[in-house]
Amino acid sequence: MIRFGRLDRSWAGAALALLLAMAAGAGATRAIAQTAAGDPAAGAKAIAELGAVLARAANSDYERAKWDPIHFKPAIDHARDEACLVCHKEVLETKPRPVSPAGVKAEQTEAWYQTLDTYAGAQENFHWRHIASPYAKQVMNLSCNFCHQGNDPREEAPQDLIGKAATTTAWPRNAPVFTLRKMVNPSETCLRCHGAFPAESMGLPPKWEETREGLESPDTPNGCLTCHAEQFRTVRHHVTYLNAKGIEDAAKDSSDACYGCHGGRSWYRISYPYPRHPWPDMPADLPDWAKDRPKTSDARFALPIPAK
Ligand code: HEC
Ligand code: HEC
Ligand code: HEC
Ligand code: HEC
Ligand code: HEC
Repeated sequence: MIRFGRLDRSWAGAALALLLAMAAGAGATRAIAQTAAGDPAAGAKAIAELGAVLARAANSDYERAKWDPIHFKPAIDHARDEACLVCHKEVLETKPRPVSPAGVKAEQTEAWYQTLDTYAGAQENFHWRHIASPYAKQVMNLSCNFCHQGNDPREEAPQDLIGKAATTTAWPRNAPVFTLRKMVNPSETCLRCHGAFPAESMGLPPKWEETREGLESPDTPNGCLTCHAEQFRTVRHHVTYLNAKGIEDAAKDSSDACYGCHGGRSWYRISYPYPRHPWPDMPADLPDWAKDRPKTSDARFALPIPAK
């Protein structure tokens, strides 16, 4: 017999809370149901769905949002940028200070890498330069989860992640999703486009600034293409996070487009161990440095290679 008492009232309260929670985050609830039903991919997708994110955000507060399930693997792998930007618009909109606290005016300063021909406009924030600027849109196609492979506010040391979270790395060579106290893994993100000029692999002198002098003229403004238009490594950039065609268009007028990502903005003394796609008339002998190189791009990013 059901009697009206404390128990029933609290049960009714719990039911109401559940209904409210379902209204607030139908996607997340469905996600949990699906995960329980043994379909984790569907669950992860439902968490990352824009509609579900909007519903959670509308009924959230700072603490809840900070722990929003979209930040974790595997949901983050399914997140489109729009879903992240529901809460993080500021990453694209924040402007650098016009004047530093020490009194240096931004418009009067220029860093060495800002002297590349491709650099345009005033100083802007890091995320805007990589995602939203006209140049970024021409040559790349970076999404939030290309770099951010998971953000756990509790854990800044990847080796301390337990269970699934520790093993679900999507990077090659089993590299961790992020590195100690960083939110990304720089060796698998930044290094791809900010490595040193790979002069050794090319058998060229280390300084491109000097080499280019002998190769470039108003008729041949891009010295890289002396060798890379037809002779070597002509199969390149067919990955989701780059715009292969946009890159070749940008490279018509200046080698700074190529050099920019291959030495001209190098934060590192090494360069990324790029895949070595076979190209027409490729010599049969394998150079020593290339022994461990894969022949294709990471499967996660690879696009079909267009027939020539
Ligand atoms: C429902 C809102 C919400 C959504 C959606 C969301 N975040 Fe967050 N995120 C937050 C909040 C709140 C914090 C805590 C911010 C802080 O403490 O400065 C946070 C923290 C972060 C941080 C750490 C920032 C820091 O300074 O420690 C990163 C990185 C991040 N989010 C990336 C993402 C990415 C990438 C996505 C999409 C996959 C995403 N977030 C989606 C609300 C959200
Ligand atoms: C090119 C790689 C890259 C991409 C793409 C990227 N981020 Fe970040 N993001 C970073 C790095 C690096 C940091 C600084 C991390 C640190 O301090 O350890 C950062 C920091 C953040 C933070 C912390 C607040 C801040 O501004 O420092 C948030 C939030 C964030 N990113 C969200 C996003 C969202 C949302 C997107 C997609 C719109 C995105 N990021 C795309 C690399 C990237
Ligand atoms: C897919 C290629 C790519 C990746 C990955 C990448 N960058 Fe960049 N980065 C660029 C390009 C291209 C520019 C030049 C943008 C311009 O000139 O407008 C740039 C510019 C920069 C700048 C100068 C911004 C300015 O306002 O002058 C910094 C700093 C930077 N990147 C840091 C990083 C860091 C840190 C990472 C890793 C978290 C990273 N980048 C990942 C391509 C990339
Ligand atoms: C004199 C000819 C020559 C010029 C000029 C040249 N390269 Fe190369 N490049 C090569 C050769 C040869 C290789 C190695 C081919 C192989 O894989 O055996 C190579 C390889 C590369 C690689 C792959 C490196 C690796 O470790 O996998 C990149 C990236 C590259 N070049 C970019 C450039 C850029 C950018 C420029 C201009 C700034 C340039 N190259 C100018 C001949 C040249
Ligand atoms: C926006 C940054 C960016 C620009 C601009 C760029 N590259 Fe790259 N390049 C990359 C990245 C990232 C990879 C690795 C792609 C992959 O994993 O397949 C790469 C790969 C390569 C490779 C190795 C090809 C292979 O797979 O065998 C060569 C050679 C190369 N680039 C030359 C060039 C030349 C020449 C230009 C100018 C026409 C250029 N790059 C412009 C980022 C860039």
